[in-house]
Amino acid sequence: MGNIQKIREQLDGRILETMEDKITERVKDSRLMDNFLTNEKILDRISRHLEPIEQMNAYYRCAIMEIETKFKVLSEQFSLKYDRNPIETIKSRLKSQDSILKKMNRKGIPVSLEAMEREIDDIAGVRVICSFVEDVYMLADCLLQQDDITLLEKKDYIKHPKDSGYRSLHLIVQVPIFLQNEKRPMKVEVQIRTLAMDLWASQEHKLRYKKQIPENEEEAISQELAECAQILASVDNRMQNLRAKLSDSRFQEDERRRP
Ligand code: GTP
Ligand code: MG
Repeated sequence: MGNIQKIREQLDGRILETMEDKITERVKDSRLMDNFLTNEKILDRISRHLEPIEQMNAYYRCAIMEIETKFKVLSEQFSLKYDRNPIETIKSRLKSQDSILKKMNRKGIPVSLEAMEREIDDIAGVRVICSFVEDVYMLADCLLQQDDITLLEKKDYIKHPKDSGYRSLHLIVQVPIFLQNEKRPMKVEVQIRTLAMDLWASQEHKLRYKKQIPENEEEAISQELAECAQILASVDNRMQNLRAKLSDSRFQEDERRRP
């Protein structure tokens, strides 16, 4: 009995010692962490690593500004020249680092700034929403005929809608940004679409995003969404035809009024 008691005391003692050791380790760890985060040399090294990423983000923001400005200038000009403006809204976004990394991982692209710039086309994104289908192509032409714009890729999801029903004109363009001592070409994805196409794309995104659609309903839901896209496309076409008719009759009216 006495021996068993002794062994128990020894064991308890060891357990206590181990626990104490672990606690001291944790305290040391947290001190290390505190030291790590307040150590200027280390912070310096971290920010030096982040610097190129921040710089690249700034370049993409400049490229967005360049493209936005081009559309804003066109918008000003159309407002002055005609009594209507084909541009309803311009929305821009810089892809988050998180989404970029996920996309690179999905596509098996090695993680480096060079590979990112070479392989990912939609880090800078500008979306132009306009009133009529014809305006989409007219605006695309206006942008592409500018001599500092290079077209790298064009996807016409209006003439060839996606199976989902998605419609839009996608252009990957290269635009130079002018820095202190250099001119740097940057890639921007421009999506041009009508109000109706934009309505569908944003509703469909909201409906699908992060939703677990039951497998047995997937087909019916996809079909319903594709039908909605079809209806909206036919509304777009009817509006386009109405505009053609109205601008014709207004033109004739003006002609008649002329002495
Ligand atoms: P990425 O390599 O991811 O760019 O794929 P991709 O090149 O095959 O796609 P694409 O560039 O043609 O289209 C990508 C963008 O178009 C997306 O980020 C969306 O903004 C939009 N898009 C494409 N398909 C759909 C769709 O079915 N629904 C919605 N709501 N948006 C879409
Ligand atoms: Mg793409």
